[in-house]
Amino acid sequence: MTEPEQKIAVSGASGLIGASLCSSLQRSGHRVQRLIRDTSQNQTGQAARQPEESAPEVRDIPWEPLVGVTRPDDLGGLDAIVHLAGRSIASARWTTAEKERIRDSRVEATSKLVAQIAALENPPQVFISASATGIYGDCGSQIVDESSALGSDFLASVAQQWESVCDPLVSRGVRVIHLRFGIVLTKSGGALGKMLPLFRGMLGGRLGSGKQYWSWVALEDCIGAIRYLLESSGAQGSYNIVSPNPVTNSQFTADLAAALARPAVLPAPRFALRLALGEMADALLLSSCRAIPGRLEQEGFEFQFPDLRSFLRQELA
Ligand SMILES: NC(=O)c1ccc[n+]([C@@H]2O[C@H](COP(=O)([O-])OP(=O)(O)OC[C@H]3O[C@@H](n4cnc5c(N)ncnc54)[C@H](OP(=O)(O)O)[C@@H]3O)[C@@H](O)[C@H]2O)c1
Repeated sequence: MTEPEQKIAVSGASGLIGASLCSSLQRSGHRVQRLIRDTSQNQTGQAARQPEESAPEVRDIPWEPLVGVTRPDDLGGLDAIVHLAGRSIASARWTTAEKERIRDSRVEATSKLVAQIAALENPPQVFISASATGIYGDCGSQIVDESSALGSDFLASVAQQWESVCDPLVSRGVRVIHLRFGIVLTKSGGALGKMLPLFRGMLGGRLGSGKQYWSWVALEDCIGAIRYLLESSGAQGSYNIVSPNPVTNSQFTADLAAALARPAVLPAPRFALRLALGEMADALLLSSCRAIPGRLEQEGFEFQFPDLRSFLRQELA
């Protein structure tokens, strides 16, 4: 059965996940309205990624994240909102001011948007908001699912606040979903996009001890999971958006090197990473998270790419 066309707003629409989601939704005939901070530039100063197919009859929605949507009425009549906006956590050294910007672009911006949606006479049925597996903190080799204890470091605390500011919508009867993303992999950007030139130049290697777990997910499965959650009327709450098979950083390094047919023999010692990146090194590269998609699997969601080695072979062929 073909699903009926829906009117869906997307924030962070120029981002890695947002641009791909907008294209996927448009290809299925949905009407996508992007929340637009600036029509020409994103935060890195590069031209924003555009969805593959444009729908000129659909108006974008101007917003200022720390203030809210310019005309709150623009949020009326939507079926769903997918909120992915947030300042990159890897674009600058984590000074106190930078950590504040990272937090505000998620917690304050989401809080303002949620207040505007909650005030609507007819809010959308679904609000899907980004979060991260960083919410579990550093868990070593312990397997974590959505029922596991949450962490207390900076990213864990931001993610918890990011999720909890959505609560007013639950009270309004909106189906609220938190997407706890692991590392989203695609050759065209994000973490893998940054690693590829190093590995191709034979400068790749394990990071620190290499024993830390990385919970990863292929971009295709990430988009598939968001689409599944949009369409599943019983789905609500937090979902880990990760493949069923997290790997250690050593395994990741070996699989990536094998897919590229390059050696990866230059390990980056923990102290050097800390010296170069400060606190960010621990949080993004050395911290361990062995998250599994407990709820998605329970509900029968099927991953196209459950295995890292075969995903990388196909992605990088
Ligand atoms: N990709 C991952 O591996 C991963 C892992 C865990 C969590 N997440 C989270 O999932 C969300 C989407 O990820 P992504 O990889 O698509 O991120 P991304 O490529 O960095 O895109 C995020 C988008 O947010 C908007 N944005 C940038 N700076 C902002 C600011 N200061 N305030 C408000 N909005 C801002 C921009 O979109 P516009 O220019 O269109 O406004 C940007 O393209 C992010 O919140 C990210 O933290 C991602």
